[in-house]
Amino acid sequence: MPKRNLHKKPFDEGTKDKLELYRGYLREWLPVFINSPSVDTLQIFDFFAGPGLDIDGNSGSPVITCDEIRNVLDQCHKRHLKVCLYFNEHAADKYQKLLDCLNAQKPYLAGVTFDTRQDDFHDAFKKWQPLMRGRVANLLFLDQNGVDKITKPIFQSIVKIPRTDFLFFISSAMVNRFKESKEICGHLPIKKEDFSSMNGQNVHRILANAYPRWIPDDVDYFLGSFSIKKGANVYGLVFGSGHPRGIDKFLQVAWKHGGDANFDIDKDGIDQRQPSLFAEYDKPTKISEFEKALEREVLHGTLRTNKDLYLFALRNGMIASHARDALSLMVKNEKLPKQTLHVSYDAWKKPDMENIQLFAGKKK
Ligand SMILES: C[S@@+](CC[C@H](N)C(=O)[O-])C[C@H]1O[C@@H](n2cnc3c(N)ncnc32)[C@H](O)[C@@H]1O
Repeated sequence: MPKRNLHKKPFDEGTKDKLELYRGYLREWLPVFINSPSVDTLQIFDFFAGPGLDIDGNSGSPVITCDEIRNVLDQCHKRHLKVCLYFNEHAADKYQKLLDCLNAQKPYLAGVTFDTRQDDFHDAFKKWQPLMRGRVANLLFLDQNGVDKITKPIFQSIVKIPRTDFLFFISSAMVNRFKESKEICGHLPIKKEDFSSMNGQNVHRILANAYPRWIPDDVDYFLGSFSIKKGANVYGLVFGSGHPRGIDKFLQVAWKHGGDANFDIDKDGIDQRQPSLFAEYDKPTKISEFEKALEREVLHGTLRTNKDLYLFALRNGMIASHARDALSLMVKNEKLPKQTLHVSYDAWKKPDMENIQLFAGKKK
């Protein structure tokens, strides 16, 4: 399978969108741990780092990481906090450029530790994985070419590491193009039945929705995804975190970039500059389907509390405000009595929960 070389040309719009999501998540992730009393070391692992910049000097993931660390260190009040950055790049020419690029960053990041390797991904993972335990918080960026590096054993190792979030890229378009190929699909959690509804637009959404099959039964985990169109092809990111706050922050970044895609994935054709007479017609399919699903679950009694609503939103790629809006809509449509529920991360964290009030005679 020919491999694309992302760094021969300036980054395209899709690559820039991917890197903006990475930057956006980093910007949310860093402040969570920077002053956390249970974390002594922040670690960012960039396993497919590239040379640092594209040929026009646009920032690649290593420079983005350095920029964001520099910005946040000013706000750190913990004198003993350690920040360790790990960069791996297999190609010799890119590795040399990466070293030059990082050497230019180091004077502006006093006290930050850098570790670099020129390994194949699997060797770098084996080497660095033991460092991911203890009083540390880890963010793993796995910007592979293709589809085959994040194997089931790698995925399952990552989801078991405490306080570890990951973001990986996958060339999902290849899955739709080579449905019959074991070389492509044999490395993925996808099953034959997933192909019946798959097309060039939704391929990444369907692929990302298959990854929960790889989460071991004894692990409670949250996954999110974002589809990225580059020319005619759709690729995407898969995000993972063991904590609601992690997925909440990822989804907030994703919704600032359009929800779960950087294009009109459901062909909603909404033009925000020319709203319809009826607000319902301007509602993206993903939001209206979520509202219907939430209503069903509330009326069936499977969602009973404010905390259930919050987790239901996160597990469906939505944020707390979507759950609050869906609840308000039920009240407006007289499916529920008037009530105020607190649906947010802060409310989820509190020991007490609030019950959803149903009309008398409905199951509770
Ligand atoms: C999509 S690019 C990463 C781009 C980078 N995140 C950036 O922002 O510039 C993937 C990189 O992984 C490197 N690579 C390919 N196969 C690899 C492997 N098996 N192990 C480690 N790196 C590899 C490629 O040389 C390429 O630079």
